[in-house]
Amino acid sequence: MKTVYNTATSLDGFIADQDNSLGWLFAVEGSEPGAENGEALNETEDFISKAGAIVMGATTYEWIVKHEGDKPWPYQAPTWVLTHRELPRLEGDLRFASADTDQELRDLHAEMAEAAGGRDVWVVGGGRLAADLARLGLLDEVVVSIAPVSLGGGAPLLDGRVELRALEAKLLGSFACLRYEVVRG
Ligand SMILES: NC(=O)c1ccc[n+]([C@@H]2O[C@H](COP(=O)([O-])OP(=O)(O)OC[C@H]3O[C@@H](n4cnc5c(N)ncnc54)[C@H](OP(=O)(O)O)[C@@H]3O)[C@@H](O)[C@H]2O)c1
Repeated sequence: MKTVYNTATSLDGFIADQDNSLGWLFAVEGSEPGAENGEALNETEDFISKAGAIVMGATTYEWIVKHEGDKPWPYQAPTWVLTHRELPRLEGDLRFASADTDQELRDLHAEMAEAAGGRDVWVVGGGRLAADLARLGLLDEVVVSIAPVSLGGGAPLLDGRVELRALEAKLLGSFACLRYEVVRG
């Protein structure tokens, strides 16, 4: 079982632009469901379908509610949404929680790992959550599909220092896909 931060990013390391938009990502050829040139998307979907638990921050969840809220919750695996607020609840296995201390984040990760039952935990984002998990030694891998675009600003891929070791690099359609292992201090 691994905890994996798997996301798409701009070349300059942003997972959303300054307006929290992903328009730049969907504008890339091969980034839409069913796209002919969608190898990177297919591989990500394969990873997601095998995940045993999912975790994301409030902004990421709110993006999904805003853009996909009229559809059923897209994921089967139990999903933890980290927030301090009451957020609209979509139908699905959603668990709202907060983790304001390192111990609370450790406890939450243990709960997710148990629920995953030997399958991977998918960290969807954002970059602070992923960096916090890495700092606590709870993140195993970072997998990024780099879109051929720079944004100049936005939500950072990793909001904190994280040491990585490259494991794999490949070109899938328009995306450069990299897999890293998190180096534990
Ligand atoms: N390119 C991609 O594939 C991709 C992937 C994922 C996300 N995204 C996008 O990237 C952006 C990420 O947004 P973001 O940087 O703001 O990160 P985020 O993690 O989605 O949201 C941050 C918010 O989540 C809550 N939160 C995070 N950690 C918490 C904790 N430990 N305990 C309690 N609450 C916690 C806090 O909100 P409150 O305190 O206000 O509740 C915090 O302000 C979004 O626009 C998303 O759509 C893109």
